Amino acid sequence: METKKTILDYETVHLDDENNAMIIIDQTQLPGKTELLTLTTAKQIWDAIYLLQVRGAPAIGVAAGYGIYLLAKQIVTEDYDAFYKEFKKQKEYLDSSRPTAVNLSWALNRMEAVVTANQDKSVAQIKQLLKEEAIEIQQEDIRVCKAIGENGLALVKPGDGILTHCNAGQLATSRYGTATAPIYLGHERGYEFRVYADETRPLLQGARLTAYELQSAGVNVTLICDSASSTVMRNGWIDAIFVGCDRVAANGDVANKVGTANVAAVAARYHIPMYVCAPTSTIDLNTPTGDQIKIEERPAEEVTEMWYEKRMAPDDVRVYNPAFDVTDHELIAGIVTEYGVAKAPYTESLKEIMAKKNA
Ligand code: MRU
Repeated sequence: METKKTILDYETVHLDDENNAMIIIDQTQLPGKTELLTLTTAKQIWDAIYLLQVRGAPAIGVAAGYGIYLLAKQIVTEDYDAFYKEFKKQKEYLDSSRPTAVNLSWALNRMEAVVTANQDKSVAQIKQLLKEEAIEIQQEDIRVCKAIGENGLALVKPGDGILTHCNAGQLATSRYGTATAPIYLGHERGYEFRVYADETRPLLQGARLTAYELQSAGVNVTLICDSASSTVMRNGWIDAIFVGCDRVAANGDVANKVGTANVAAVAARYHIPMYVCAPTSTIDLNTPTGDQIKIEERPAEEVTEMWYEKRMAPDDVRVYNPAFDVTDHELIAGIVTEYGVAKAPYTESLKEIMAKKNA
């Protein structure tokens, strides 16, 4: 008997090399419609990232890797300097699509390093190496998320109540997710977690994506309004919080979807540990603290008229719509990476984690 396909059977980002394209699930349409988009041009790839059709720090990195490969493939020259000049131009363009998730520039820099390290090779060979690197970024993401899942699972016990914010799930990565990886692995092992998903205003990644993918996997998930998270914590229903992140600064301050810092502050009030799940590709030791992280501001319409046919706010009202916030490191119980869990003092532990990675 054929089993029914769920959202988890799709690849968030898929390379269709034969057709010089990348295929993504349009996440702005979920959960109502599973629509696949075929991207071939620089503008289409830039728009897909900016419009959050592909979103979540690791998935943005994977899309950037495939994106710059596909654009490099379109460069018609055999001359290295001319190739590199055009490559740089396309790289900078993609890099301008969103500012907060460091995975975007991390993946693009990694791809550029392939170009600069192989100046002695032909342009055709460099293109082949770029393809291999982009595939490796995606494969690595799967391994990394699984390792984050194992490390995170060791922090909780069967039957625990877990709160999460935004979507740091499979849809934000290549598989497992980051914050959801311990949940998926625990689910496979019969842990029977009770998961609470914040809806995540204004774009509802928690409601539309996290609740959807966890429910599709058969996880016990309850959707709550963002403003109900303090209630479930005060009720004693939450044992741990797992969130993803877009950038970890050297001192352990973390940028993640707006509202994460509110969850952290309330969790501290109720002595609930808040764990931030972060692949090392999200750790940015060049950014000293959260104050230096550029926080994306998005259009007012996301707040005033996104989800209703009628406008939900007075005409011309002033709107402030930061897409991310910074959680101070003092509020974080641990940063769960593929190399282990970094604990305070983060200035030391994050350096140790990165040294393990580079060993
Ligand atoms: O604006 P988004 O939907 O890209 O924001 C996503 C988040 O904030 C995620 O929590 C973060 O990128 C981690 S994804 C594993």
